[in-house]
This record gives sequence, C-alpha cells and structure tokens, in this order.
Amino acid sequence: MSNPNERLVTARDVWKTYDHGRIAVLQGVSLDVERGEVVALWGASGSGKSTLLHLLGGLDVPDRGDLNVCGLDPSREQDRLALRREHLGFVFQLHNLIPDLTVTENLRVPGLAAGKSAAEIEARLRELAAIVGISHRLDHRIQDLSGGERQRTAICRALMNRPRLLLADEPTGSLDEKTGDTVFQLLKQLAERDRIAVVLATHERRFAEACHRILRVREGRLAEV
Ligand SMILES: Nc1ncnc2c1ncn2[C@@H]1O[C@H](COP(=O)(O)OP(=O)(O)OP(=O)(O)O)[C@@H](O)[C@H]1O
Ligand SMILES: [Mg+2]
Repeated sequence: MSNPNERLVTARDVWKTYDHGRIAVLQGVSLDVERGEVVALWGASGSGKSTLLHLLGGLDVPDRGDLNVCGLDPSREQDRLALRREHLGFVFQLHNLIPDLTVTENLRVPGLAAGKSAAEIEARLRELAAIVGISHRLDHRIQDLSGGERQRTAICRALMNRPRLLLADEPTGSLDEKTGDTVFQLLKQLAERDRIAVVLATHERRFAEACHRILRVREGRLAEV
C-alpha cells in the first residue's frame, strides 16, 4: 500500500533567472504536492508557470533552491532520466507528438524507452485510448487528428508508464472552450481514478477553480488562493 500522504513534490526557495540574471522569473518559490492532489498553477502569461513546470520535470535547472520530485532531484542529470521514464508524465501545451507517426506509434515511445515488453505496451495503450475515447483513431497519423484528439493522445502518452505525477502545461490552451472542458475533465478523472498528483498550469480561472488547490503565480512567487 502506498502512503496516503505520500509527498511527490517538494520545492524550497527556488530561483530562476534568464538572460544572465536580467530576467528574474522565479524568486523564492516553495511548494509541496501530495499524492492524489490536483493543483493549479494559475497566473498571467509570462508569470513563470511553464518555467516552474520545466524545473519540476527536469527540462531546465534552477539557479538555486532545492527540488525533490518523486524522491529524485530533477536538477541532477543522473536522476532526470529515471524521473522522466518512470515517475512523471508531462503534457505540453502544444502536445509535442510526432506528427507523421500514428497514435499507436507515438504511444509506444515511452514504453519502449522504459524497456517494457511489446505486449505490455499494446495492452496499456489500448486501455488508455479507450478511456480517453481515441480507440478508433489509433492507426491515424497525428497530423490528421483534431486538436482535441491530439491533446487526448498527449495525455495517454504522458500516462503510458503509470506515473505518480503528471505535469500539464496548459493542456487545454490550444483547444476551443467545449473541447478544452472535455479534456480537462478527462485529465481530472484519470488523476482521481489512479490517485495521481497533477500540477497543471493554466491562466483560465474556471480550470483553476476546478482543481483541489490553486497556487497563484505572481511576481516570481506562489501564493495559495
Ligand atoms: N529561455 C528563456 N530565455 C529568456 N527568457 C525566458 C526564457 N524562457 C522564459 N523566459 C521568460 O520568462 C518569463 C516566464 O515565462 P514562462 O514561459 O514561464 O511564463 P508562463 O507563465 O508559462 O506564460 P504563458 O501563460 O504565456 O505560457 C517570460 O517573461 C519569458 O519571456
Ligand atoms: Mg507557459
């Protein structure tokens, strides 16, 4: 049994600047996220939401401060690979799927990278595709899918290796209102079903309010709303 209050993210006094310190984006950010929580990072464009998600996901490194994500340190090269393969899934704003591969081929990538068997990969991708409603599109290329179908595929890809933590960067940002609502609800249901922690960046208040907790990103800091 997993610990019900398992802490998946700890950030302490994290700073991040760009352009040789001229652009100060995060100025002493601290954050805790426990298993099963769906947390919104809510803030204006340019406030630093993507920057923070990138630091948590090991896609960029902080100038200073301590990070612990699923027991690993995403700023350490030697921890990063295991973190991304086994413990966390990342949903990008613009999905970042490989456009001329099919849905199935895209979904196989994380499983293959983690050394899973072909049978296990096929079973998992069919299970997830059924949940998000893209089973009938598995053999279609990404470039031939609608925006909502692409985003649902991206969610499946992020969940292929059964992560405990999902980082989602405006996962509904490129979608129309109705499709965005559908994709958001799906993400939340999936997270609640498997008690995955989700940290989701959004500038839309209605999505933030539907999360368990809202952290406002402003002037380089986080504040509980
Ligand atoms: N690689 C970079 N080099 C220089 N500046 C950067 C870099 N990445 C981000 N920035 C700057 O850092 C600030 C925060 O960017 P970030 O992408 O984290 O914002 P955001 O909250 O995700 O915004 P949005 O809602 O528009 O996605 C912005 O002013 C941005 O221009
Ligand atoms: Mg962003």
